[in-house]
Amino acid sequence: MGKLSGCTGGRRPAGPGPQLPLFLLLPPLLLLLSPARVSGAARPPHVVFVLADDLGWNDLGFHGSVIRTPHLDALAAGGVVLDNYYVQPLCTPSRSQLLTGRYQIHLGLQHYLIMTCQPSCVPLDETLLPQLLKEAGYATHMVGKWHLGMYRKECLPTRRGFDSYFGYLLGSEDYYTHEACAPIESLNGTRCALDFRDDEEPAKEYNNIYSTNIFTKRATALIANHPPEKPLFLYLAFQAVHDPLQVPEEYMKPYDFIQDKHRRIYAGMVSLMDEAVGNVTKALKSHGLWNNTVFIFSTDNGGQTRSGGNNWPLRGRKGTLWEGGIRGAGFVASPLLKQKGVKSRELMHITDWLPTLVHLAGGSTNGTKPLDGFNVWKTIRS
Ligand SMILES: *[C@@H]1O[C@H](CO)[C@@H](O)[C@H](O)[C@H]1NC(C)=O
Ligand SMILES: *[C@@H]1O[C@H](CO)[C@@H](O)[C@H](O)[C@H]1NC(C)=O
Ligand SMILES: *[C@@H]1O[C@H](CO)[C@@H](O)[C@H](O)[C@H]1NC(C)=O
Ligand SMILES: *[C@@H]1O[C@H](CO)[C@@H](O)[C@H](O)[C@H]1NC(C)=O
Repeated sequence: MGKLSGCTGGRRPAGPGPQLPLFLLLPPLLLLLSPARVSGAARPPHVVFVLADDLGWNDLGFHGSVIRTPHLDALAAGGVVLDNYYVQPLCTPSRSQLLTGRYQIHLGLQHYLIMTCQPSCVPLDETLLPQLLKEAGYATHMVGKWHLGMYRKECLPTRRGFDSYFGYLLGSEDYYTHEACAPIESLNGTRCALDFRDDEEPAKEYNNIYSTNIFTKRATALIANHPPEKPLFLYLAFQAVHDPLQVPEEYMKPYDFIQDKHRRIYAGMVSLMDEAVGNVTKALKSHGLWNNTVFIFSTDNGGQTRSGGNNWPLRGRKGTLWEGGIRGAGFVASPLLKQKGVKSRELMHITDWLPTLVHLAGGSTNGTKPLDGFNVWKTIRS
């Protein structure tokens, strides 16, 4: 991390380096770190953040998996693989940290997930990443899973910094019907209902279409219609590869050799998601955005072993504090990287994205509550 990371508002104790009065260093460093100088680009970069759900360590080709992920492998091979990157063991905590740059203990979200009927969301006095990027001049779009609360309209993604939203607000649902089910005590039974939205309105016309395909179509349409001169933040949070285990038959075909049925379906789901990422990066290239894009791929937590995921050689799974639950698969790919085709062993945490990306955007975190994350762009880039 070096000494520079301490200058960007962090409170991590100073390292063993000389204790220089930081204010003496600050002005020249800030100049050096301004995004234009860092990236060599005239404009702040587009940021495309792809978050996979419950994807395990051993579920990616470039981690040695039997599951084929050629598009992700190629991006990772030309980028920086994050080998010492940590997330939270569950969806809501990880996602809340990604978008606030703060630990879930500060958000009241440390206990478990936000449940379907629970009146909870990321506290409304928190400033989210899309708000900060919007302030820095970005167009901000979200596609996919929210899971940061929906019991009041003020909690919805479109009220928290995203210009547009398309996806589902809860934690899991059917990939085809887009219905989520929950036990309702007062009814002494389970109730299922559509959880699929276009901005804040129900999106009813997607029944029987697999979610990964719908989300990819929306993401590529956003990219196609985006003026390349305006910086874009696209947060694409796939439903894949969380359970229920569902995938079109043809994606399972290459995996006949896998005995375990759960694992076989899951492998198909991963490969479909890999194809989706290929489509998204292709769109970025064909619409002239790629050469100024920082593309990030990350899981939200470790794989769920009883639903097809595999974290070998890491111990544990989603929901545990073993490495298999919290060491995240991820990488960064971008023409703006100085180092390419490397595995970074630097320690990194999911809370680091907010200060890192706001820095890249030339924005400011002055108005946020105290951050736990650090700007690690220098580490990633060089
Ligand atoms: C709730 O449903 C169960 C199973 O259908 C039934 O056995 C039970 O009596 C019901 N309880 C109430 C309070 O209706
Ligand atoms: C990717 O694009 C191809 C060609 O348009 C399409 O047939 C395929 O369904 C897309 N895949 C996904 C996952 O959206
Ligand atoms: C990026 O691509 C656009 C459109 O193709 C082009 O105008 C621009 O010069 C490129 N920028 C760089 C830094 O290569
Ligand atoms: C953020 O705070 C620093 C230090 O107080 C100040 O120099 C800078 O101008 C502020 N930036 C914005 C955008 O308010």
